[in-house]
Amino acid sequence: MMAPRFPCLALLVLAAPLAAQDGNERARTLFVTNCASCHGETGDGHGTAELDRPARSFQDGGFSFGNTPEALFKTISTGIPGSPMAGFDSSLSEEERRILAAYVVTLGPPVEEVKDEDMVLAVHERPLVVRGHLPPLGEGLPPHPRGLLIGDPSGITFEYDVADVRLLALRQGGFVKRTDWSGRGGTPLEPLGKVVQLVGSGKPAPIFSLAAGSVPLAAHLAATEAADQVRLAYHLLRGTREVAHVVETPRVQAMPFGTGYTRRFAIVCGAQPVHLAVADPTQGPGDELMEFDTSSGDAYGGIHLAPVVRRQADGSAAYHALAFESRPATRAWGVLVVDLKPGEATWIEITTVPLGAWTKAVRKQLESLDR
Ligand code: HEC
Repeated sequence: MMAPRFPCLALLVLAAPLAAQDGNERARTLFVTNCASCHGETGDGHGTAELDRPARSFQDGGFSFGNTPEALFKTISTGIPGSPMAGFDSSLSEEERRILAAYVVTLGPPVEEVKDEDMVLAVHERPLVVRGHLPPLGEGLPPHPRGLLIGDPSGITFEYDVADVRLLALRQGGFVKRTDWSGRGGTPLEPLGKVVQLVGSGKPAPIFSLAAGSVPLAAHLAATEAADQVRLAYHLLRGTREVAHVVETPRVQAMPFGTGYTRRFAIVCGAQPVHLAVADPTQGPGDELMEFDTSSGDAYGGIHLAPVVRRQADGSAAYHALAFESRPATRAWGVLVVDLKPGEATWIEITTVPLGAWTKAVRKQLESLDR
């Protein structure tokens, strides 16, 4: 990759001041082309685009997800779930995103350094898992003595309660601060990211059940595995009997209209045949705002249900999609029921993309993608 650039190297060195200027010019051009419509040419937050919430004024230091070049690079790449700020992961090269991150820093006020780094964990190239006591996600919500945080390199953190293996929230920004190393009965953790999605209004229902949804199954964590992706392995139990074994892999999902997440469930049936019911978000809850025409299979096989946009309890909209391995299944009453024989394996993937307010602009954008 370097080779073709060599002949120009000497020239570049000689022309250093000019190159620096060109660099600034390039950064500015990138910003004006890709960002200014919302953030304003000077980064004051007053662009020409009509938004239901203002884009940030970088001049005022409006950074809730971190203002270091690395943090900004992540925000620019991933976008902000549930807001008009889409990820530029696929539309701009890594180099361009780094140039923009550095440029945005120059638009803001002088950066103050944070000093208590030894208590702060940051995620770099690989995901990190931390377990401990998590504080409540909001007023009236419970604390989570058996919390688990998965920090993704994108800057997104998945927050779980592993007493019953439930995804509670998505955060964005810094990862976590340990508030007390010597704490007995689980380290108290202070997640640093801002909540960008509260699953089930902070009280998520179980995903797996029997009898078409009427008998919820308990989930007991067996192991966590961290490699390129983090996996949570757990037993689905009815009483003390294992109905199935599940390996859940959450991942950040960047779509052209926003950033969300996909949870993949690899399921192995226990010793008895089962009609396993899986909560199907494409069926509800929440009013249907839009249904896509695209469905059926794709290159990866499996059955893909038509994605649906629904209104969430807090009034905002979310895109939901569900895919599962081709096999006999029934779909009704908010669940998808798959039939499994003892030892049989299958998979299900659920994708959620928070869309923020349901505006005409968001609807238009989605319709243009539904070809
Ligand atoms: C379609 C409008 C839109 C475009 C285009 C856009 N942004 Fe944003 N951006 C937003 C909005 C809205 C927010 C605030 C989201 C929130 O916090 O709810 C935001 C937030 C941000 C933040 C986060 C600041 C923080 O709170 O930490 C950064 C950084 C950012 N944008 C950089 C960029 C860059 C760089 C570009 C161009 C590559 C860009 N944005 C393009 C709308 C946009």
